Amino acid sequence: MIPVNEPMLDGNEKRYLAECIDTGWISSEGEFVLRLEEQFARRVDRRYGVAVCNGSAALELAVAALGIGPGDEVILPTFTIISCVSAIVRVGAVPVLVDSDQSTWNMRTDQIANRITPRTRAIMIVHIYGLPVDMYPVLELARRHNLLIIEDAAEMHGQTYDGRPCGGFGDISVFSFYANKHITTGEGGMILTDDEDLANRCRLMRNLCFQPQKRFVHNDLGWNFRMSNLHAAVGVAQLERLGEFVARKRKMGRRYNELLAGIAGLQLPLTRTSYAENIYWVYGVVLDDAVPFNAEEVIRGLASRGVGTRPFFWPMHEQPVLQKMNLFGNEQYPCAERLARRGFYLPSGLALNDEQIDEVADAVRDVLNV
Ligand SMILES: Cc1ncc(COP(=O)(O)O)c(C=O)c1O
Repeated sequence: MIPVNEPMLDGNEKRYLAECIDTGWISSEGEFVLRLEEQFARRVDRRYGVAVCNGSAALELAVAALGIGPGDEVILPTFTIISCVSAIVRVGAVPVLVDSDQSTWNMRTDQIANRITPRTRAIMIVHIYGLPVDMYPVLELARRHNLLIIEDAAEMHGQTYDGRPCGGFGDISVFSFYANKHITTGEGGMILTDDEDLANRCRLMRNLCFQPQKRFVHNDLGWNFRMSNLHAAVGVAQLERLGEFVARKRKMGRRYNELLAGIAGLQLPLTRTSYAENIYWVYGVVLDDAVPFNAEEVIRGLASRGVGTRPFFWPMHEQPVLQKMNLFGNEQYPCAERLARRGFYLPSGLALNDEQIDEVADAVRDVLNV
């Protein structure tokens, strides 16, 4: 089986992990956590980094630390991971959706203005699969309506928008370090901001709101969302190679593009927009409407030929758990619905080699009968 993802861990990971074990610093107090926070923040041109146990926790902390709460509305794409909506719903706020763009698969920034009401507090930007959201229109809207920006850059390590690092645009921004990301800590996440008070709030809340003076007396409820020094050790080693990893993913993307170009019925990822070159966090493809079956069938066909894949996100307005909460009525978002049914991604891990990419491309042709 060619796995959908396999990370590369052949740098300093083992050496730094051994340091943790030799010195006994294996929980969240330790040099590597601080190093990862500092180095990652510097890489994205942010002042503060707060390491946490995963990207979903980073989103929860970000929304809570901004003081978003009952009655507030947050605008976000329907085509995203459930973590985005659960962070909003858990503080009692209301998610308000927009559709996706057919070619970039990112949120339709031209639909945001219509969704703004007097209760809107924030726009949650989610950069999808390898290309960033077109940020300038969003920044302008946020400025004009005095809205916060939460930037979910979970998939965007090393990507830039108009030359500036993704993760550098939110009042608060988050990343994931899950094993399929450009850099990983196994499980992990990071919050970035330039606001010192906000960073301190996040630090407090990720650590059960222990107070510095009276440790076991709590003024607020927090979470244990800490990252361990072991995870951070892996992250520091990975971060040393971020440039190399992004270049490698782009090379893989180009190889897929060349091999799959011209296959009738298959929409490939955009290689670039005016503001960014794709980093192919995952190599996604979408079946044209003319193809007489949906992504699920192709996924099954590829699995039987030894190729691992994943379907695209399923839109938030079609999630049974959210429908039960009656959050989105009968709203429809045709592009996101189509992406969910027609889209999937091919093996995209950093350890994938050229021969495997060739095999995947052959299998795709075979399944599509071309
Ligand atoms: C856009 C986006 N946001 C948030 C997350 C959540 O990150 P994690 O899996 O580390 O909880 C992911 C995970 O892949 C993601 O793709």
